[in-house]
Amino acid sequence: MDKLIITGGTQLSGELRIAGAKNAALPILAAALLSEEPVTIGNIPHLHDITTTMQLLGQMGVRLTIDEKMNIEVDCCEINKFEAPYELVKTMRASILVLGPLLARYGQACVSLPGGCAIGTRPVDIHLDALLKMGAEIKVEGGYIHAKASRLKGCKLVLEKVTVTGTENLLMAAVLAEGTTIIENAAKEPEVSDLAHFLNAMGAKITGIDTGVLVIEGVEKLGKKDLYYKILPDRIETGTYLVAAAITRGKIKVKDVRPATLDAVLDKLTEAGAEITIGEDWIELDMHGRRPKAVNIRTAPYPAFPTDMQAQFTAMNAVADGVGVITETVFENRFMHVQEMQRMGANIQLESNTAICTGQKKLTGAPVMATDLRASASLVLAGLVAEGDTLVDRIYHIDRGYDHIEEKLAQMGATIRRIPR
Ligand code: EPZ
Repeated sequence: MDKLIITGGTQLSGELRIAGAKNAALPILAAALLSEEPVTIGNIPHLHDITTTMQLLGQMGVRLTIDEKMNIEVDCCEINKFEAPYELVKTMRASILVLGPLLARYGQACVSLPGGCAIGTRPVDIHLDALLKMGAEIKVEGGYIHAKASRLKGCKLVLEKVTVTGTENLLMAAVLAEGTTIIENAAKEPEVSDLAHFLNAMGAKITGIDTGVLVIEGVEKLGKKDLYYKILPDRIETGTYLVAAAITRGKIKVKDVRPATLDAVLDKLTEAGAEITIGEDWIELDMHGRRPKAVNIRTAPYPAFPTDMQAQFTAMNAVADGVGVITETVFENRFMHVQEMQRMGANIQLESNTAICTGQKKLTGAPVMATDLRASASLVLAGLVAEGDTLVDRIYHIDRGYDHIEEKLAQMGATIRRIPR
């Protein structure tokens, strides 16, 4: 298993281009199943989860053509299998996103239950309850969701919790349903909106985008000739590199970004003492060589502070000036990075879903282990500022969500390299 070794102590500086959003690319590739015409999707990030999604679609009979600019043409004209097998779903929970489109267009789906993961049980009950309400027949047997529907029927859905992939699955189910569907308490994450814009570009009729109440008027079919759709920039990758600069007291400029999707994160970086300058598609962060100040964080659905940035800010609070309190309200077990940071000398007390971080002047490099995508990124950030070497193991988690992380950090001055297994 590959490892990353980081020697801390360098202030990051330089410029960086940000890739397309993983959490928009995954639902949009799944949504291509709805299209009667081949569709080309651009700005796809070069990530393991994208490879997994291409395997998932390919084994259904979808024809995928990828070019050197990471544009993917998706042609669903010869689908002959409507299944998402456990072997693929166990490596990527987001495979559940094929359920909605398969049901909507082909009236059948057999999708492995995603199961839990390190950060929580992650049920899909809200997805299934809503599809049942839309007239699907669903049987959960042998670890698989067996679903079928002659034609889904539009109805009013009030989601009991804000769920990102739940909203996305139901959006994709509703676009070809008979009649109108209203989704209340819908997720407002920018990736959900990007999916809605993609569906509308294919001919869907979705209104209320970004409002939390989505209204979808079902149509007979979807697909536009020669459609090209560019994925929005990854706000979590953007935030992660901005924290990398803040934690090392450096100065960086990130380009090809969408600043308006990061308001809550930029507010907290400013509170931590960063000087933030924003352009149309770029953000510059300058710490002027100063140690970050501790900040209090409470994660919640968009537009509040994103749970996917919580681990990164825990790392920053670990070396910040003062005490920062971080409360995780979205997932029940998303502090696994804490015990690894404690081994590096961090002073963090866990009390239920809250981490009380008393900033230390320094951390000491150590061998640490990644447990999930964002926790692994946070350990790299801690290694950037720790004295000595930090060896991050199980970095396949990182490769799922960060495209060439060591190259991007090294080009900004970090001492980091990958040790192949
Ligand atoms: C998406 O996961 C993201 N993944 C996650 O990013 C992100 O952390 C999460 O949204 C929250 O923003 C993708 O978009 C592929 P949820 P998702 O359904 O959709 C509960 C990363 O780092 N819930 O919004 O699975 C659930 O247990 C990943 O890129 C139910 O109870 O998250 C959680 O407590 C990690 N029943 C809360 O809702 C359901 O049917 C929010 O989960 C669905 C969800």
